[in-house]
Amino acid sequence: MKIGILGTGHIGKTLARKLSAAGHDVKVANSRGPETIEADVLALGARAVSTAQAVEDVDAVILSIPLNRIPTIAPLIANLPAETVVIDTSNYYPHRDDKIDAIEAGQVESLWVAQQLGRPIAKAWNAIGSGSFATKGKPAGSPDRIALPVAADREKDRSVAMAIVEDTGLDAFDAGTLADSWRQQPGTPCYCTDLTREQMAGALASADASRSPKRRDLAVAVIQERLGDATTNPDADFGVRLSRAIFM
Ligand SMILES: NC(=O)c1ccc[n+]([C@@H]2O[C@H](COP(=O)([O-])OP(=O)(O)OC[C@H]3O[C@@H](n4cnc5c(N)ncnc54)[C@H](OP(=O)(O)O)[C@@H]3O)[C@@H](O)[C@H]2O)c1
Repeated sequence: MKIGILGTGHIGKTLARKLSAAGHDVKVANSRGPETIEADVLALGARAVSTAQAVEDVDAVILSIPLNRIPTIAPLIANLPAETVVIDTSNYYPHRDDKIDAIEAGQVESLWVAQQLGRPIAKAWNAIGSGSFATKGKPAGSPDRIALPVAADREKDRSVAMAIVEDTGLDAFDAGTLADSWRQQPGTPCYCTDLTREQMAGALASADASRSPKRRDLAVAVIQERLGDATTNPDADFGVRLSRAIFM
């Protein structure tokens, strides 16, 4: 599949490496230009391009940028054919993204993203920490393979996103519609807790919309205290222990 990725940070970098290794034709872009993309992002075959080139003539576009930057790439996405699958990895963190009134008032994050882009999306890879994503992927059928919730409204978006998720070493779990995707937002039981397919349905069902923003902010406070700032990501073991203690 031809895949364009916007964002080469903690998550975009691992997407570029894993999807290239799986045999996909991958182009990647960041906001500063292709010459600034580090060699390890490209080491398994991905090509560094401009943002416009990244979304040109591809089957799927993956957005892996901070949520508050989504409106800046909306004009690029508006040019895509309707059948192109757009998959978003983003999460809302008010300390990073500034307050977004609609989300604070209860709008589901992925519905806010779809509204900014004026088109359907799938939501995937938002609910795994960057440490686990980089180091814990396994081949299909492996015991204790980590499951990842995938939400979408169009069947094609769901099936393509789930297939690509499998190619990144995770069990793709159908988590329903975008309207239901608050169940995989930060602070919920399935968020960055590295659950298996067997554990996922129960975790999604037990999510509590009224408590997850508070739990999200508690986790951020602990990470800031431990690591000094909020841009450093916790390693996989600490991140999962923290998320399980607070979110489950
Ligand atoms: N970190 C995690 O553990 C994790 C887990 C799951 C989901 N997520 C979510 O996934 C998204 C990405 O997270 P991250 O941790 O990978 O972020 P990150 O490390 O801060 O990287 C962000 C990337 O987005 C790029 N970017 C920003 N604006 C852009 C634009 N207008 N056009 C193209 N590229 C742009 C940046 O490029 P420049 O550096 O050139 O500006 C950078 O490569 C966020 O929404 C985050 O909440 C993160």
